[in-house]
Amino acid sequence: MSAESTTPRTVHVALNERSYDIIIQPNIIAEAGRVLAATVHSRRCLVVTDRNVGPKYGPRLAKSLQMAGFDGSLAELPPGEAAKSLKVAEILYDRCLGAGLDRGSCLIALGGGVIGDLTGFVAATYYRGIVFVQVPTTLLAMVDAAIGGKTGVDLPTAKNAVGAFHQPRAVLIDPLTLATLPDRELKAGLAEVIKYGVLDDAELFAFIEQHSQQLLAKDTAALAHVIERCAAIKARIVSQDEREQGGGPRALLNLGHTFGHAIEAATGYQGYSHGEAVAIGMCMAVALSVELQWLAPADRDRVVALIAHVGLPTKLKPTDPDTNTLYAASLKDKKVAAGSLRFVVAEGIGKTKVVTDVPEAVVKKVWDSGRE
Ligand code: NAD
Ligand code: GLY
Repeated sequence: MSAESTTPRTVHVALNERSYDIIIQPNIIAEAGRVLAATVHSRRCLVVTDRNVGPKYGPRLAKSLQMAGFDGSLAELPPGEAAKSLKVAEILYDRCLGAGLDRGSCLIALGGGVIGDLTGFVAATYYRGIVFVQVPTTLLAMVDAAIGGKTGVDLPTAKNAVGAFHQPRAVLIDPLTLATLPDRELKAGLAEVIKYGVLDDAELFAFIEQHSQQLLAKDTAALAHVIERCAAIKARIVSQDEREQGGGPRALLNLGHTFGHAIEAATGYQGYSHGEAVAIGMCMAVALSVELQWLAPADRDRVVALIAHVGLPTKLKPTDPDTNTLYAASLKDKKVAAGSLRFVVAEGIGKTKVVTDVPEAVVKKVWDSGRE
């Protein structure tokens, strides 16, 4: 590992009294106790993780918390989206009570976006809100889910339907944890990384084009670089528009998601992971941008080529739900404003905006053309 790749990098999320730091540092899990002792007042905490992540990183985190004087216990949940439920939240409330957590205590989420969203939701609601810390271990959670305070659980028929805005006290990112992340999950995270390049940062996009092999090989320096760039973009946008109000800047983070969420919902959350659906959704978003004459076809081709190059899908399969089903699924999304679909379109690599009132025929044409 080069000296540069071990240097801590800090990104600040400026939100007045809810401000916090995102620290990106290899092996920070072993120092988490020392770092958190300076930001978290109570020494009583509960670490929430899942059965894939807990055995790998739980003992190191527990040791570091213990050495810093924390009195902590560990709750290990089954992995997977099914844990993001009210039922599992209730189990966690019981664990909080059992661990003697009071209003000053702290929850620590060690895992991917599922653990982060669930733990954040429990922290937002237990005793009307306690402190929580994010220690994300998937690339997707490091660049997106752990930052910005969107927490929540799914209902049986509606993803992320119950939730709260509750900002973490700190986000500690250890890129070395990605060494054990399955390749499919790494690629899902890369879809979100590419999203940041398209929506805000042409230099980041070019970096991913030039370093895709290092990123896929989990080179720590390349990963730390893109994590920092994405975290900085998200921190800036969240600082400007914490609650995603009225199509404000936070809505830009939904690039590819109007199509992507419809793909996930219409395939029963079985066919594609979130990152894969967003990858196809981004290809459709740039196709729509060309269709509406905001984007040059050459830029669309660059985006689609990069998504394909990192091994993500760019088109729906012939067996996937038909256009009418997908269009109907998109109308049920949370992002529908006053009955009108909201899309993020690109005007170039690194420049995006929100549009509404796109004619149904144009949207359906894009769905039709986005199939193998
Ligand atoms: P995930 O949390 O399900 O993790 C994916 C898999 O990787 C799991 O099986 C997990 O056990 C495993 N894993 C995690 N870290 C590992 C590691 N270092 N080594 C080995 N295995 C590891 O999935 P995700 O993609 O991280 O998160 C998806 C969730 O995030 C969804 O529920 C989505 O709605 C949510 N999300 C939230 C936001 C937000 O702003 N709050 C943003 C994007 C996504
Ligand atoms: N993942 C989109 C957001 O946090 O707003």
